[in-house]
Amino acid sequence: MGLFITFEGIDGSGKSTQARLLADALRVVGHNVVLTREPGGSAGADEIRRLVLEGDPNRWSAETELLLFNAARRDHLERLIEPALAAGQTVVCDRFADSTRMYQGLSRGNLRARADALHDLMIGRDPDLTLLIDMDPETGLARARGRGGHEERFEDFGPDLQAQMRAGFLALAQEFPERFRVVDGNRLVAEVAADVLALALAALADD
Ligand code: ADP
Ligand code: TYD
Repeated sequence: MGLFITFEGIDGSGKSTQARLLADALRVVGHNVVLTREPGGSAGADEIRRLVLEGDPNRWSAETELLLFNAARRDHLERLIEPALAAGQTVVCDRFADSTRMYQGLSRGNLRARADALHDLMIGRDPDLTLLIDMDPETGLARARGRGGHEERFEDFGPDLQAQMRAGFLALAQEFPERFRVVDGNRLVAEVAADVLALALAALADD
């Protein structure tokens, strides 16, 4: 089985940048890497991505949204992640179930218990290593907004949600200390990338 590595953190923390750099660096040292992201990562999940990320912030109830993210994840897991891991590839994924625990679990009422129950029932797979890119919420929001685009349902919630999410992710890292590693994202891209690579190589060596 290959190693399953995920990146988590608030919007604009640098996850996509770091996931790409890690995939490149691991390939250079000979690992066979699949780089993917959520929501999305398979054709069906990419269709669901459009449903959940575009349009009015109140388009879906919190419960419906929880089901949509899990439906997308199930498709991604079945069609991309599990086959790759079974073939011995390293999977690097930008966001996974911890994002659902945070965003759907905490942002609109407390749905964390239902998010966990649904995950256990329908997904049942956690990463081997989760790299939390920790970031000041104001900086993250400014970076995410600077990127532009039309996927703004969550970014529209603003700085309070970002701050709540940051604290929530740090708490989650304490809840699952065996697989979480926290990386300070308030540094140069190359400095963050060096820490990320060292943590991933250590996990691969342990495997
Ligand atoms: P995320 O995937 O967490 O939303 P991105 O990797 O897309 O974050 O980064 C958001 C923006 O910030 C991008 O424009 C990216 O180039 C920039 N960025 C990423 N990491 C850093 C960093 N360490 N310092 C400054 N800018 C960064
Ligand atoms: P993403 O494309 O990773 O955005 P960013 O690069 O700005 O971090 O994710 C889009 C949004 O989807 C992001 O605001 C977080 C949200 N999201 C959830 O609410 N639940 C989830 O399970 C996932 C995977 C993402």
